[in-house]
Amino acid sequence: TGVITLDPGFMNTGSTTSAITYIDGDAGILRYRGYPIEQLAKSSTFLETSYLLIYGELPTQTELDAFTSRISRHTLLHEDLKRFFDGFPRDAHPMPVLSSAVSALSTFYQDGLDPFNTEQVELATVRLLAKLPTIAAYAYKKSIGQPLLYPDNSLGLVENFLRMSFGFPAEPYEVDPKMAKALDQLLILHADHEQNCSTSTVRLVGSSHANLFASVSAGINALFGPLHGGANQAVLEMLEKMRVEGGGVDAFVKRVKNKEPGVKLMGFGHRVYKNYDPRAALVKATADEVLADLGADDELLQLAKQLEEVALSDEYFISRKLYPNVDFYTGLIYKAMGFPTRMFTVLFALGRLPGWIAQWREMIADPTTKIGRPRQVYTGYAERDWTGMAER
Ligand code: CMC
Repeated sequence: TGVITLDPGFMNTGSTTSAITYIDGDAGILRYRGYPIEQLAKSSTFLETSYLLIYGELPTQTELDAFTSRISRHTLLHEDLKRFFDGFPRDAHPMPVLSSAVSALSTFYQDGLDPFNTEQVELATVRLLAKLPTIAAYAYKKSIGQPLLYPDNSLGLVENFLRMSFGFPAEPYEVDPKMAKALDQLLILHADHEQNCSTSTVRLVGSSHANLFASVSAGINALFGPLHGGANQAVLEMLEKMRVEGGGVDAFVKRVKNKEPGVKLMGFGHRVYKNYDPRAALVKATADEVLADLGADDELLQLAKQLEEVALSDEYFISRKLYPNVDFYTGLIYKAMGFPTRMFTVLFALGRLPGWIAQWREMIADPTTKIGRPRQVYTGYAERDWTGMAER
C-alpha cells in the first residue's frame, strides 16, 4: 500500500533477516555463523562447514561422524533417474543437466517434499548433499561419453566426487590428496554468501512453500548466469580468447574501458565487496600453492596475473572499486585439476549447496516469513479500448 520505492537490482533493499552469513563489503570480511572464512578455509572441511551453515554450530566428533555416515548412505541415484542422463544431447551444458536432475528428485523422493515436516526436510537435506556430487559427476561423464561410476562410500565426499569424475570402472583410482584438499577448500569458500542472486532465488521460490529440491533447482539455474556463478567459466574463456586473438592485456583492458558491448573484465567487481573479496585472496593463495603441483597452464596464468596488475593500477577500475572476485582464479585451478571449462560452474554449485539449504531452512523455520512478492511501478498504457482486427 502507499508509495512504492523502486530499487532495481535490490541495491539497497533487505529481503530478510538472517543469522547465517555476515559480510562487511568495505572491510572485506566474510563469516559463516560468526567464524571468519580464513579460519574455516584453513582448518575446517567442506562437510564440517556444511554442518555449521545448516545447523548453526560446529559439530562434535560424534555429530560429524553421524552426519558423514548418513550422507554416505545416500550417494546413489535411483536407477531410473540415472537414465535421464541418456536423454540429454551429448553437447549439453552440465548446469541445466544438474538443475533438471535436481528438479527430478521431487519425483523420485516424494517422502521429502513437505517443508513443514522436520524429518522430511532432514531427509531432503541429506539426499541433496549426498546426491549432488553424483549427479555432477554423471553429467560430466555423460558429456565425454564415458561410463558412469557408482559412488564408493568408503571415500569422503570430495574424494568420491573426484573418483566418479576422473576414474574408470575397471581401474583403481588414486585420489591425489593435494587435489582433494584444494577442492575441499574451494568448496568451503563458495559455501554461502548471504542474499546473492541464486540464494535469493532459492528463498523466493521456497517462500511459496515449494519443496527444497524445487527451490535448489531454481537456485542452480540462477547460478548459471555469467554475472553470477557462470563467471568462473567466463573468466577462462576470456583468457583463452585473449591468448588466441593476441594483442595482449593492454589492448583488452582498453576495450573494457571503452565499454565495448559484451566486453567486461570477467572475475572483477562485486555488488557488496568494494575493497577486496576475501575469498579471492584465499583462492589466490591456493592457486600459488597447488598450480605448480597440478601443472598449470602457465600462459593463461601469466595473462591472468598481468590482467590483474594492469587493472589494479588503472583509474577506471580504482574509481569504480573493481577488484578480483572469487571467480577470477578458481577456473585456472579447476582447469589444472583436469575439469573442462563447462564444469566450473557445476563446482560452484556443489560448494553453494549447503548455503542454499541453510537459507531455505532458516526461512521455512521462521513463522514471520511471507511469500516473496515484489511490487512494480507500471509504465505501460493507461486504459484503452479494444479494437477490431480491421482497425489495427
Ligand atoms: N568490468 C568492467 N567494468 C565493470 C565491471 C567489470 N567486471 N564490473 C562493473 N563494472 C563497471 C560498470 O560498467 C559500471 O560502470 P559505470 O558506473 O561507468 O556505468 C560500474 O563498474 C558499476 O558496475 P555495476 O554493473 O553497476 O555493478 P553491480 O553491482 O550491478 O554488478 C557485478 C556487480 C559482479 C555483476 C559486476 O561487477 C560484473 O558484471 N562483474 C563481472 C562478472 C563477474 O565476475 N561476476 C562474479 C561476481 S562474484 C561471484 C558470484 O556472485 O558468482
